[in-house]
Amino acid sequence: MKNVSNKSATFFSVVDVISPYFKKYLPRLIGGFVALIAVDLFQLLIPRVIKWAIDDLKSGSASAEQLVLYGAYIVFLALAVGIMRFCWRYLILGFSRLLEMHLRNKIISHVLTLDKAFFLKKTTGDVMALMTNDVMSVQLACGMGLVAFVDAIIMTTAALAFMAYINPKLTLIAVAPMPVLAITTKILTAKLHFRFKKVQETFSRITEFARSSISTIRLVKAYNQESSQTLRFEKLGKEYVHDNLKLATIHGLLFPLSIFTANTSMLLVIYFGGKLAIKGTITTGDFVAFISYLFMLSWPMMAIGWVSNLFQRGITSLDRIKTLLLEKPLLTVSPQVKHPSGIKGFIKIKNLRFKYPFSDREILKGINLEIKPGVIGIVGKTGSGKTTLCNVLARIYPVNPGSIFLDGIDINELPIEFVRKAIAYVPQEPGIFSDTIASNIAVGKPDATQEEIEEAARNAAIHEEILKMPQGYETRVGEKGVKLSGGQKQRLAIARAFLINKPILIIDDALSAIDIETEQNIIRAITRHLKNKTCIIVSHRIAPLTLTNEIVVMDDGQIVARGTHETLLKENHFYATVYRHQLTFSCSEKGL
Ligand SMILES: Nc1ncnc2c1ncn2[C@@H]1O[C@H](COP(=O)(O)OP(=O)(O)OP(=O)(O)O)[C@@H](O)[C@H]1O
Ligand SMILES: [Mg+2]
Repeated sequence: MKNVSNKSATFFSVVDVISPYFKKYLPRLIGGFVALIAVDLFQLLIPRVIKWAIDDLKSGSASAEQLVLYGAYIVFLALAVGIMRFCWRYLILGFSRLLEMHLRNKIISHVLTLDKAFFLKKTTGDVMALMTNDVMSVQLACGMGLVAFVDAIIMTTAALAFMAYINPKLTLIAVAPMPVLAITTKILTAKLHFRFKKVQETFSRITEFARSSISTIRLVKAYNQESSQTLRFEKLGKEYVHDNLKLATIHGLLFPLSIFTANTSMLLVIYFGGKLAIKGTITTGDFVAFISYLFMLSWPMMAIGWVSNLFQRGITSLDRIKTLLLEKPLLTVSPQVKHPSGIKGFIKIKNLRFKYPFSDREILKGINLEIKPGVIGIVGKTGSGKTTLCNVLARIYPVNPGSIFLDGIDINELPIEFVRKAIAYVPQEPGIFSDTIASNIAVGKPDATQEEIEEAARNAAIHEEILKMPQGYETRVGEKGVKLSGGQKQRLAIARAFLINKPILIIDDALSAIDIETEQNIIRAITRHLKNKTCIIVSHRIAPLTLTNEIVVMDDGQIVARGTHETLLKENHFYATVYRHQLTFSCSEKGL
């Protein structure tokens, strides 16, 4: 997701997104970090015990019992390290997973509060990327990142303190190569992240390619694109291998580099520390303990570079998440909100002008229309604004105050859910879920009985066809309804609207893939069953609309004519021409 504020994002500007969860799980986090500190301390004690054992051995004061006791100390410390390590992993990494879950829930619940206008500027892919990659980098920063950060600080401080306690000068000599390791790790991990991102991007392109090829398989076959699609897929596969090899090269550099630095320090310690031990400035036990501490230092040095990159990525991702969480729905309700008890279905449109959000083009140019309960038809050229009118009536996009009234109340003064609950809307593109036929019909009324579902299907003239399907109403329709014909999908969407039985029904060209006879049967069912209700039917075909009480003709965002079928035939040239064309076409189709 593109984000202009990325550059200025700092820890303080974004921390408020996650701080509530840190507060919520504070006891868990405290427990986790206490366990982590305990692990570090126990680990740091082990070289001390080794030193005591060696020094006792060297001085000849060690008894067999004493040595067994030292051994037992080490076993005990190792056991304690194991138990505490389990505790911090469970508590802190568990916290990072809980945080991930909360963030994801917060994003999805926020996106669901936004309206369609949000998706005019952001794609589903943007939101998906936020919910996967960005949430993941926050989880990494607040889990492993935080652990490595605290661990590195404790280990560095304690190991350096123990080393300095043994010999300050030797400590300085030993750590001289360490900053080189920290700096090169930082550079390499930055490259690593870049490469990793590329690998992820290529992977998501492969996934998207496979998904779209499979979901458009009919198209691929119709255009004989099988082999060219396979070739493109192979090319992507090669790119993926190439990116992975580059990633492996950097990975391969990191580990030897840390070993090399640790061994350079070791060389210095063996040379200078060995000399000190020979001279007797430090004991042999001190010398061995010093080497153990030195080994402990190389991990925190590597961790510093890695952690700072993890934190940077976490902050960038949090900033993107915060930007989305600050998005507000464009649809708002005026402060003078009204709560009528019900809706009778009187619609008044007064000089309605409308532009889509983020667009300057006026689509609806001063529409005036009064709709009473009954069936009204809308026809018009493609692009004349029919769908746009349905969308604003269904309260999907915001409209200016004083332009649409429902039972005399401005829709801006009615709660959004109230308006939507009053309207059953069948959009031009029927949305079908990958579920059973019955569940697809019962979307708006999940507790509907089988009888109610069948009644709705009968009215939408699809009941008989459903019964012929392998599992009847329990037949699964496949992704986006692939197992259904265009007309079946449309009638399923109409049955869905019939079932919820609202005072207003809007059908936007959702009968286009149905033959004229079935279409007329559906319209008859509408006129029969939706008595005293308001029904708006948009159709490209005029014939079925002849059954409606009134027809409105739209052109270029305006209403250019209205009346009964007979009056329009006489008075409107466009209407009469289209009707005659359609009549001739349907007669020739029937061979008349
Ligand atoms: N989201 C949008 N943003 C900007 N312009 C849009 C948007 N959706 C539609 N339009 C424009 O609004 C105009 C009216 O479109 P609309 O979908 O309302 O036409 P229509 O009468 O339903 O056409 P059809 O008969 O083809 O369904 C078109 O010119 C279209 O390009
Ligand atoms: Mg349309």
